[in-house]
Amino acid sequence: MKSYYILALSCAAAEALADFRSECAALSTSFIHENTDVLISEYVPAGTNLTFPELAATTCDEFVVTLADMCRLKLNHSTSSTSRVIMEVFLPTDWKLNGRRFLMTGNSGLGGCISYSDLVFGAKLGFATVGHDNGHTGATGLPFLNRPEVIKDFAWRALYEAGRVGRAAVNFFYTGGNIRKSYYMGCSTGGRQGMKAAQDFPEEYDGIISAAPAIRSAGLSAITTKTHLIFGKPGSPSHLTLEQWARVHRMVAEQCDWIDGVLDGVLEDPMKCQPRPEALLCKSGQSWGSHQCLSLPQVKAIREFYQPMYGNGGKFLFPRMQPLTHEFLGFLINYGGTPSKFPEHWYRYALFSNPDWSISSDFNLDVVDKDLEDQYGLETYNTDLSYQKGNRTKVLLYHGLTDGLISSENSYEYYNDVSRTMGLTSKEMDEFFRFFPIPGLDHCFTGNGAWYVGGPVQFETPGFLALDPSDSALMSMVKWVEDGVAPDILKGRKIVDGVVVSEKNHCKYPKQNIYKGSGDPNLASNWKCNSELV
Ligand SMILES: *[C@@H]1O[C@H](CO)[C@@H](O)[C@H](O)[C@H]1NC(C)=O
Ligand SMILES: *[C@@H]1O[C@H](CO)[C@@H](O)[C@H](O)[C@H]1NC(C)=O
Ligand SMILES: *[C@@H]1O[C@H](CO)[C@@H](O)[C@H](O)[C@H]1NC(C)=O
Repeated sequence: MKSYYILALSCAAAEALADFRSECAALSTSFIHENTDVLISEYVPAGTNLTFPELAATTCDEFVVTLADMCRLKLNHSTSSTSRVIMEVFLPTDWKLNGRRFLMTGNSGLGGCISYSDLVFGAKLGFATVGHDNGHTGATGLPFLNRPEVIKDFAWRALYEAGRVGRAAVNFFYTGGNIRKSYYMGCSTGGRQGMKAAQDFPEEYDGIISAAPAIRSAGLSAITTKTHLIFGKPGSPSHLTLEQWARVHRMVAEQCDWIDGVLDGVLEDPMKCQPRPEALLCKSGQSWGSHQCLSLPQVKAIREFYQPMYGNGGKFLFPRMQPLTHEFLGFLINYGGTPSKFPEHWYRYALFSNPDWSISSDFNLDVVDKDLEDQYGLETYNTDLSYQKGNRTKVLLYHGLTDGLISSENSYEYYNDVSRTMGLTSKEMDEFFRFFPIPGLDHCFTGNGAWYVGGPVQFETPGFLALDPSDSALMSMVKWVEDGVAPDILKGRKIVDGVVVSEKNHCKYPKQNIYKGSGDPNLASNWKCNSELV
């Protein structure tokens, strides 16, 4: 009797899978949507190594190993007569059993790469998950040259349209009931895209996770450029080698690590730290070689690094780099001697449409004024979130406090700007907008502290699959939207070589984490969030 039932059940399951597979394959002709071509529709079992040989000449991921049985749908959607967005839609077999959720993912840097690890993890958790290339393929700004429609896609439209087409595809594919809730998650440029949705089209999402957002983009490009210029090329008087940056890092730790009561190389609140680089100044006759000290031009450059940037007429452009940052990343991408691609390609191809434009010969503060005109909507610094609040869309913002590329102080300022613009206390903002500073998180992933929070682009971390996803940033957002249980903390973990070595419950701003004074600081239980001052 029993074995008969099992046989019948497995026959039914096999039949359901056969149906799923054939409906998936049929999408190539059955899914009809305006301005949209189906490029691929195929059934892909969990554990498949999906490869993208067409991306070989780019810096985008060339393969990803899937974690769910799913239908893969790849689409080409025209956003105008001269632009298009390439999309991937991962449709897991167990979608209906997992809350009928939709998840949109973000891009990074100059866009152009689909964040496949986010898609794979979203599908594993049962979300119908979408990624898109932000209107152009590859992580350079060259496709912007003389193509305003492509720039518009990068600023907001690719996200907007990929969301609408993606939702249509999901609702078409799964018969007998539509998407119940829609989510977004992205970091860096992806964080900016999330804030763009929150500011301009919140109706599209129920919950948005925005990490380390590249908002206030003109100021960010300006300060990134300034940082490159103040340190110059290797050999220039103010340039620092990577070794010298490591010394600066130790100096800041010596000056500030004590403030939070724990000497762990992590600052709970870098705002309280005012580094004094003069501590490393060489006396006459001394040198780096002889005394590991720094020259006057180097010391002055470091001082400027920890100052905000102002533009023409004294206009505030961007906050300072937070102290005890991830200098290695900053060095690699920004101040090692070549200008960062983000501002240079943006200025060169989008702002000036001039392939010969360069930061070293053409940058001045008028460039920033032109950028601030915000012709394409990249700025993403609207501090009136009334639409978002009106639509009951939730935003969870977090930012790593050792982010070497985008100063976390920008996120504090945005939060407080919203508070002033809307005339709301932090308690009132809690209803729709929560901000979590994450000590010891670098730019989006890795770091010295409990950096892993289960958010965008963190899902390539070895060992993360062993963790219960229920306290991830993603599922915390789901609980907020679907059960009304809003997150008061974000669970953070430090993962080294696939092993969790410390944990911390990161407090919601403006609360702060206080060490209780005794016990292992690697245990979350030895810390507490202070009482909130509203
Ligand atoms: C997936 O395939 C690519 C291309 O053949 C290969 O480079 C990569 O190592 C493979 N990854 C795994 C995990 O098998
Ligand atoms: C996408 O569609 C556009 C416009 O129809 C076309 O020019 C382009 O070649 C297509 N791209 C791909 C990868 O199919
Ligand atoms: C919801 O958001 C849309 C934009 O997506 C906006 O037009 C509309 O006014 C908002 N609704 C409310 C009640 O604020």
